[in-house]
Amino acid sequence: MKIAVLVSGSGTNLQTLIEQLHQDETSGIDIAVVISDRRKAYALTRAKRAGISTHVVRTQDFENRQDFDAEISKLVEHYGVELIVLAGFMKLFQPPFVHKYQNRIINVHPTLLPAFPGAHPVADTLAYGVKITGVTVHFVDEDVDSGPIIAQSAVPILDTDDEESLHNRIQVEEHKLYPEVIKWYAQGKLKIKGRKVIVR
Ligand code: GAR
Repeated sequence: MKIAVLVSGSGTNLQTLIEQLHQDETSGIDIAVVISDRRKAYALTRAKRAGISTHVVRTQDFENRQDFDAEISKLVEHYGVELIVLAGFMKLFQPPFVHKYQNRIINVHPTLLPAFPGAHPVADTLAYGVKITGVTVHFVDEDVDSGPIIAQSAVPILDTDDEESLHNRIQVEEHKLYPEVIKWYAQGKLKIKGRKVIVR
C-alpha cells in the first residue's frame, strides 16, 4: 500500500514510519511521497536521506486554500497514494478535499481527544492541570481534530513536567501507535460505523 506522509516540522513520526514500515519489506507499506508546507521542515531531510520523493507545497504560493488542496491532491493521485498520513502537518483541509478522501486521511494528535484539540495541545493540557493525557490517532473530517477515533494510548502527567518533557513522553507513545494503526489500515482491519471505528 502506498502512503503519503504530510509534515510541517521535525518529523520524528515520519522517521518512525520510515524505519518501521517503509524500510521493512514485510510491512507491505511504501512511503511514496513526503509533502511539507514548510521549506525548512527537518522532516524533508529525513525523507531525502531515506531516498523518498519530497515536495514542498506552501499556502502562500496559492491564491486560495482550494488551490493549495488541489495541488496536494494532484501529488496524491500522481504517486498512486491510498492513505494520506498527517504527521505533524499543521494545516487544515477544506471540506471538498476531506470528502474526496473520506476515510483515507489519518492524523496523530498529542492528547486524548476530544480533550485539547487545536494548535497548542500540550501547553493547553498542562495549563488545565489534568493528570492523564496521551495520544489519539483518528480519521480526519471537516472539523478540527474531530474525526472518528481509531486508537488511543494514555500517558500520565508528572508534577515536574514542562511542555518539552511531556511532549517527549507522548511522542514515545505516538511512535509505537502510529505505525501499528497504519498496518491495521493496510490489512483492512478497520471498520467505521458512524463515529466508531472497530478494529477487527
Ligand atoms: C506530534 O507530536 C503530533 O502529535 C503533533 O505534532 C507533532 C509532530 O512531531 N500534531 C499535532 O499537534 C496535530 N494537531 P514530529 O514532526 O516530530 O512528528
